[in-house]
Amino acid sequence: MHEIRNITIIGAGLMGHGIAQVFAAKGYSVILVDLNDELLVQAIKNIRSNLALMADNDIGAYKDIDPFISRIKITTDMSEAAANAHFVVEAVSEDLKLKQKVFQKLDDLCQRDTILATNTSVISITQIASKAMFRDRIVGTHFWNPPYLIPLVEVVRGDDTSDKTMDRTITLLQAVGKHPVRVNRDVPGFVGNRLQHALWREAISIIEKGIADAETVDECIRLGFGMRIPVLGPIENADMVGTDLTLAIHDYILKHLENSPDPSPLLKKMVNDGDLGFKSGRGFREWPEEKIKKSRKRLQEYLLETIKKGDRSK
Ligand code: NAI
Repeated sequence: MHEIRNITIIGAGLMGHGIAQVFAAKGYSVILVDLNDELLVQAIKNIRSNLALMADNDIGAYKDIDPFISRIKITTDMSEAAANAHFVVEAVSEDLKLKQKVFQKLDDLCQRDTILATNTSVISITQIASKAMFRDRIVGTHFWNPPYLIPLVEVVRGDDTSDKTMDRTITLLQAVGKHPVRVNRDVPGFVGNRLQHALWREAISIIEKGIADAETVDECIRLGFGMRIPVLGPIENADMVGTDLTLAIHDYILKHLENSPDPSPLLKKMVNDGDLGFKSGRGFREWPEEKIKKSRKRLQEYLLETIKKGDRSK
């Protein structure tokens, strides 16, 4: 069995370029694949600017960026990229048919002990793997954006994923400084996105029902229970207040919470009207250019600051 040294990333977009950076920064050889050279050149530019940002903030030893960049080769030829790969991460667009095709092709092109991982946000790993022959080596690795700053990677077991694939994937992710967690069952949304979107569904429903406006909903989270979340997940929090109090609250409140299996009619209407958020300047709230810049900057500064301080949950 090969020691994992050669990493191939398929798709050099928002996630793919950041995932390539994670491996290159820890000394792995990386091949980045996309549909054309323009996208690939842009991906390398993005990695360069991410590394410069980290150097400016004293995160990692990136004073000289060129050696890191020189470990990343770019190509549009998947066969060339797959031939010597030990670990492949697929980060193409979120489209089941496209992903199935990529895995079918990789299955043919890669050596038998190469691990094939998908960065899908919500799609079933088992379905993505279903057209491939060797499904024991296919696994979910759900990185979060931006992957070079956010530590968590959900390692998701498909119905056919082997223990060996799970273990080797987790060891590799630990070696590149990520925080992998095991997701034992292949359910839509895995763990992180189930939790995240349960909250978003309720947030949108509160606005739709006129209980509070959009800014208030965000304030109730950011300046209220959201302040605890970086150090206290909901389960530790439930234990802290007591399972008896948690039961009493759930007994009263759960029947009043949003439980629609469909996206909110308000959300559908907004998309229909072209109110797409930052993309169009208006979503639940108004977004002039200056406010968009400020919001992105605030998030980036917060993430950099958090990384510098280290993991406060320990
Ligand atoms: P993106 O649209 O920025 O990048 C996708 C890239 O894949 C594009 O550059 C596209 O040209 C390329 N591509 C498409 N077909 C290809 C093919 N056959 N061969 C090679 N390259 C191909 O999308 P993004 O946001 O990077 O998402 C990628 C995956 O990561 C999706 O499955 C998404 O759900 C998942 N994801 C996205 C997150 C996000 O915050 N954007 C967070 C976590 C996961």
